[in-house]
Amino acid sequence: MNKKIHQIQKKKNKSAIVSLTAYSKNISKILDKYCDIILVGDSMANVLYGFSSTHRINLDTIIQHTLSVQKGIKNSLLVVDMPKGTYRNKKIAKKNAKHIMKLTKCDALKIESNSKNFEIIRELVKSNIPVMGHIGFTPQFKKKFKVEGVTEKQTNKLIKEALDIEKAGAFSIVLECLTSHCAKKITKKLCIPTIGIGSSKFCDGQILVTDDMLGISGFYPKFIKKYANLDRIIDKAVKKYTSDVISKKFPKTKNIFK
Ligand code: KIV
Repeated sequence: MNKKIHQIQKKKNKSAIVSLTAYSKNISKILDKYCDIILVGDSMANVLYGFSSTHRINLDTIIQHTLSVQKGIKNSLLVVDMPKGTYRNKKIAKKNAKHIMKLTKCDALKIESNSKNFEIIRELVKSNIPVMGHIGFTPQFKKKFKVEGVTEKQTNKLIKEALDIEKAGAFSIVLECLTSHCAKKITKKLCIPTIGIGSSKFCDGQILVTDDMLGISGFYPKFIKKYANLDRIIDKAVKKYTSDVISKKFPKTKNIFK
């Protein structure tokens, strides 16, 4: 087994797993100092490319961004999202998964659950490809945002889904926008670590989209905590640059070649 995955799994019930997303080297280089897991998420569709859906990201785009992110990583586990449609059956999933792994040398792939694709996970794991599952609000399969695990019936269904993903061989699982009651129950039932986004402190770890927590994406639902207002910092810097260029304060003698 991948040594980094083993170390992350050992954290369950001991210490929280820290995860964030990255789409480029400059960001991954900073995250690598702190994060156990760095995810090249298909959220780049919305966050970076301005699409309304994650479905618009294809294999080549996710590979290009992963190659950049990989350049900034020394320690963290590098996980890559398989884009919508790239794992629609076992044969296609295996071919595309091997292609991503070979080109990017990432550590693992993440697959969103549609409550049926456990065999895809099993097939990839059988081929020595570590897989992270993803349940709850899964944008590749659900159109409308909804908090999940509200009723006991929904909670039991999600527990079964999580257990099936664990049985299929996933090394970890993302829980997106589940009630805290549901996330707590799943985290207790599973042997593999749960990584929450909008799913309470009862998960084994947390993940956020980095652009959201830095305050640059413009997307700040209740489950996001803004740790910086990077939009304001960038605005101020660009404003100053603009006034310096117009007033000829920039470039100065020290900025030019003689
Ligand atoms: O694409 C992504 O960034 C994700 C996280 C929100 C977990 O899947």
